[in-house]
Amino acid sequence: MTAVAENSIYGTRQVSYPLELIQKSINMKIEFEKAKLSHHEEIQTVMQTSAREISRKAYHKELADTFDKFYIDKTSDYIKQTLENPNNHTIVAKDDDRIIGFIQLKVNKKNGTISHLYILPGYEGNSVGTQLFSLIKERAVQLNITKLMIESTLNALTYYEKLGFVNNGLISDGSAYNLELELWRV
Ligand SMILES: CC(C)(COP(=O)(O)OP(=O)(O)OC[C@H]1O[C@@H](n2cnc3c(N)ncnc32)[C@H](O)[C@@H]1OP(=O)(O)O)[C@@H](O)C(=O)NCCC(=O)NCCS
Repeated sequence: MTAVAENSIYGTRQVSYPLELIQKSINMKIEFEKAKLSHHEEIQTVMQTSAREISRKAYHKELADTFDKFYIDKTSDYIKQTLENPNNHTIVAKDDDRIIGFIQLKVNKKNGTISHLYILPGYEGNSVGTQLFSLIKERAVQLNITKLMIESTLNALTYYEKLGFVNNGLISDGSAYNLELELWRV
């Protein structure tokens, strides 16, 4: 592990990342910042494009309908409302001023739910998701959250397990996994 100075939404700070991960992010010049209300349309495009082109591949037959229904009401107005809600914390990743990924944390007392994490197709597999998660986890710790939860799409289960989440099984309609991470353990 190597320490690097990084500009986060909470100012410049020291963060430790594996060398490989630092190299990728230097090459891509990805910047991270707190989401603004004016970002809602770009964020919605990232969400819908990422869901359709990456996640949907893991859904077949009758589950594809359930998947599509979930995204019908995820309009730019929906995103705007989530950005206006003070219980939500949203961070965007930008490449040359274009939003290429975002993460959203919903806070409910000591529990936090990762309500959304999406990377634009073409940018996946370059550590952007992991860096967004790292920043939101840091925010969750600052907010005294002790447990993070997520309803993971079928494609992302292994990814979240790598981040330390424990799989509590499928939700009733089989379209997502219930995962959780006890923050006091990490
Ligand atoms: C899942 C997602 C957020 C991961 O973000 P990312 O920036 O692509 O992931 P990273 O580059 O940080 O990946 C870190 C590691 O996880 C692996 N990984 C990424 N996506 C994975 C997946 N779906 N399954 C298994 N491993 C995965 C990477 O290969 C990498 O492994 P390595 O460290 O051994 O090289 C992103 O691919 C995405 O937006 N997917 C579509 C939307 C989605 O499913 N979101 C989750 C909704 S709950």
